[in-house]
Amino acid sequence: MSSIHDQLHEKRAAALAGGGAKRIDAQHAKGKLTARERLDILFDPGSFREWDMFVEHDCHDFGMQDNRIPGDGVVTGYGTVNGRLVFAFSQDFTVLGGSLSAAHARKICKLMDRAMQNGAPLIGINDSGGARIQEGVNSLAGYADVFQKNVLASGVIPQISMIMGPCAGGAVYSPAMTDFIFMVKDTSYMFVTGPDVVKTVTHEDVTQEELGGAVTHTTRSSVADLAFENDVEALLNLRRFIDFMPLSNQQKPPSMPCHDPVNRQEPSLNTLVPDNPNLPYDIKELIVKVVDTGDFFEIQTNHAANIVVGFARMGGETVGIVANQPMVLAGCLDIASSKKAARFVRYCDAFSIPIITFVDVPGFLPGTSQEYGGIIKHGAKLLFAYGEATVPKLTVITRKAYGGAYDVMASKHLRGDINYAWPSAEIAVMGPKGAVEIIFRADRDDSERIDARTEEYREKFANPFIAGARGFIDDVITPAETRSHLCRDLNMLKNKQLSNPWKKHDNIPL
Ligand code: HXC
Repeated sequence: MSSIHDQLHEKRAAALAGGGAKRIDAQHAKGKLTARERLDILFDPGSFREWDMFVEHDCHDFGMQDNRIPGDGVVTGYGTVNGRLVFAFSQDFTVLGGSLSAAHARKICKLMDRAMQNGAPLIGINDSGGARIQEGVNSLAGYADVFQKNVLASGVIPQISMIMGPCAGGAVYSPAMTDFIFMVKDTSYMFVTGPDVVKTVTHEDVTQEELGGAVTHTTRSSVADLAFENDVEALLNLRRFIDFMPLSNQQKPPSMPCHDPVNRQEPSLNTLVPDNPNLPYDIKELIVKVVDTGDFFEIQTNHAANIVVGFARMGGETVGIVANQPMVLAGCLDIASSKKAARFVRYCDAFSIPIITFVDVPGFLPGTSQEYGGIIKHGAKLLFAYGEATVPKLTVITRKAYGGAYDVMASKHLRGDINYAWPSAEIAVMGPKGAVEIIFRADRDDSERIDARTEEYREKFANPFIAGARGFIDDVITPAETRSHLCRDLNMLKNKQLSNPWKKHDNIPL
């Protein structure tokens, strides 16, 4: 009997030691934490329960029968994050480079099944050399099994990928199918083919960091949502992020105690929009002044900054915020911003998160690069996403709402529940100047006449009252009272029931 206890003790010790002190030191020297140290930061102290610590690979090729470490390079289990159930796997780079064997994949799949069956988020901490080379097609099959489960879990439980080391080749496609990807600067990268292959095929000289580092993916490619300075910062922000999420699509997002009065007035908002309609202002100032305690968790901060998206709370309840940003490209919608916001809106809708949209949009960005790039199809993504969303949708037009972009941005016509305008709102087919230059083309050389016509157009159309007269906006509100109106409406909409016609699934213009 005692020998079993001894064996148990030995195996546990072997699993906990991972690839050994030397490899752990090497991991630390790179500025990376180990798989278990990461889980210690993610979960509430003492709450993590590990499974499958004794799982070993069953490969006998290339001397692998003598190279077995209990756990096989991935730590799996569950715990709590601020008291709420969360499942996680954490790849251990010190064990065969965190490479994915068939056994390693089975551990992840088992975890994913449990997360789905019990309705709780799945966190994947990725730090792996990819498919276990010694196992050949078995490891590819393992990846495919994980991919399939990612697809089935999509829209059922929140799936968040932390990239905290290498993630290359086909391995990138598991994170790519999850809801959010967070990366760590300088120590993580994602690419389908690495710099050496790139050099051979396209003759481009590019470093790992340039090709697939955190900065590249959070600015240019938008593959990842946020980049952090180090592992600790990334994991602490993940804990904060999880607090906004519902556990699954069967549950509402958590209600947090709210220490910020729901009827708080914010008089400074009355002067946020400049008198000159061509001057920009920072839409983030509006967001932080309206949401609970100024706590706004922005994502995709450095990509398509002409639209701002992120999570916040109103009266203690999670909301998704979408806002045109007049400081960047005058807040125009373009390909990148349409895709960014569409994906965010769909996430919110899948997980019962009400959406608040702040609108100041002069239209879609003109130009050949946009048209050739498919702005029609990509802009339609955002239109489609808002149109299919059945969660509560609240909209505030702060200034411009021109043309098709007015329709797109959660307008009344796309089943907006409550649509407000500030007194500074201009809801029209286009800006007064552009409109006059078209309808009074004959007068275009007479600047005095054009100016007079522009003023006439502005007075007649560039205001909230025509849309108000049609019921397209529900009310014109004083900016200072925005928070109190929105909080009251969200409360009214708590039990909103709305469903779309039965279908297998829709066909969003991908
Ligand atoms: C088996 C691996 C491994 C792998 C690394 N190791 N990757 N073992 N299979 N895929 C082992 C190394 O042998 C080494 O073992 C240890 O992990 C650490 O690796 P190092 O090379 O010393 O670390 P480092 O210098 O930091 O380089 C990390 C790395 C490099 C860039 C990830 O290891 C590398 O290029 N690995 C191969 C990557 C790859 O080509 N993977 C297959 C991709 S294709 P020791 O015992 O010395 O510590 C793929 C397809 C997925 O993944 C398809 C899904 C559809």
